[in-house]
Amino acid sequence: MAFLKNAWYAGAWSHEVGRALLARTILGEPVLMYRTQKGQPVALSNRCAHRFAPLDRGRLVDDAVECPYHGLRYDSRGQCVHNPQGDGVIPKGARVRCYPAVEKYRVVWIWTGAPEKADIAKIPDFGFIDDSERYGITTGTILIKANYELLSDNLLDLTHTQFLHADVFKSEAVMRGRFEVIENGTTIHSNRWCPDAPPTPPLRLALNYEKHVDFWMNMRWDPPGLMRFDVGATPTGKPREDGVHNLEMHLLTPETETSTHYFWADARTYGINDPVVEENNRRALEHAFVGQDKPMLEAQQAMMGTADLWSLNPVMLQGDAAALRARRVLARLIGQERL
Ligand code: FES
Ligand SMILES: [Fe+2]
Repeated sequence: MAFLKNAWYAGAWSHEVGRALLARTILGEPVLMYRTQKGQPVALSNRCAHRFAPLDRGRLVDDAVECPYHGLRYDSRGQCVHNPQGDGVIPKGARVRCYPAVEKYRVVWIWTGAPEKADIAKIPDFGFIDDSERYGITTGTILIKANYELLSDNLLDLTHTQFLHADVFKSEAVMRGRFEVIENGTTIHSNRWCPDAPPTPPLRLALNYEKHVDFWMNMRWDPPGLMRFDVGATPTGKPREDGVHNLEMHLLTPETETSTHYFWADARTYGINDPVVEENNRRALEHAFVGQDKPMLEAQQAMMGTADLWSLNPVMLQGDAAALRARRVLARLIGQERL
């Protein structure tokens, strides 16, 4: 297995990155994050070039990080700018890798490929995250001991909600609704349209409506694992504006081959400033993501060991169509990087 290098990955939430040194393993590499005095996010290798000490155990001196072991200092571009030893000459090659880092949608994004190819316009649109007038927003981070493609399989095949999340999200309508998969360049859409059906309990509560609704679950996937989910309901036959919906951001960043930093955000159109709705919403989402998805994903990974999915000859179901395409797109892009 290999990772896609020329891509943006969520490194951290904006609020996690400050003047304290933050260490996080991304794509198997130790990464250090902090902010300059002017507020710019910085992402460097966390491994000192001298004897490979973890730099996050050091300290910031202005915008440079000082290694805790023998005191080399690196500036925010990873260049060694201070050597307290001997004659103080900066040894040739005394630098650590610097990752392009940008801030958008409340996230510090890290580019793990060739720096000259980093283009902020390549981050897919999650504009709703910045619209706190219109949405009540909840965010969270979960470390899951499973490969990130198992997470995208999970999110692109929402039939699992009828079994794994049956206590909260069950509705027969999900299984008999119309399912379509659209491939547009490297973007995959997995859409379910469930007209004239009983709503799932959370949608019933949000809509405060007992009768049948039209509801939709639309997932958009972009490589390497950046997903936008639109789930909503409206009284049957009414325009969508009469209903409610949640927009979600699901960002999957491999920590290693078999573990994933999962950043999620949920933006709801109802109870925007209501702390009780906020709390109930958070509890329901964490119940599903942490209480149900996480243990299942980790158990799947344990069952698979380090084997690649395809080497185990998995059976395919109709609901896998989108996940299959996403896996193909990713494999193609990774293959192209190897040429
Ligand atoms: S290990 Fe960092 S200065 Fe020696
Ligand atoms: Fe789930």
